[in-house]
Amino acid sequence: MSIIPSAALALLLTLAAPAALAERAAAEGDPERGAELASLCTGCHGQDGRSNISRYPSIAGLDPEGFTAGMQALQAGERGHLLKRMTRSLGKQEIADLAAYFATLE
Ligand code: HEC
Repeated sequence: MSIIPSAALALLLTLAAPAALAERAAAEGDPERGAELASLCTGCHGQDGRSNISRYPSIAGLDPEGFTAGMQALQAGERGHLLKRMTRSLGKQEIADLAAYFATLE
């Protein structure tokens, strides 16, 4: 074996290991990471997920299961969402993080 493929393999293994760890951690939402992502949402859903504008529902204090179910329905196109493309681009982990964050708000 030449030195180049084994170096490439070593690099691949180094890159793959953290990804595998991240996947295992994906079960639980991280509210801190959710708080960072929330800036995508608060423009419409209000600061801290509390909206004063009737056409934008408040999303603070939803329980994580309800939030996740709501997001999945939006992603599946079962319900409309103004930002369909944006909600579709969110992964499972991001939704779990957002759910964990908004659940901490009242
Ligand atoms: C451009 C404005 C806008 C942005 C940005 C936005 N939303 Fe929405 N969202 C809406 C509107 C309007 C609705 C009500 C459904 C509809 O008519 O689109 C809604 C509905 C929802 C619902 C359903 C609430 C319920 O009552 O069940 C959830 C959950 C939700 N949004 C989550 C999010 C999350 C999470 C983000 C950020 C990743 C986000 N939204 C960003 C406008 C927005």
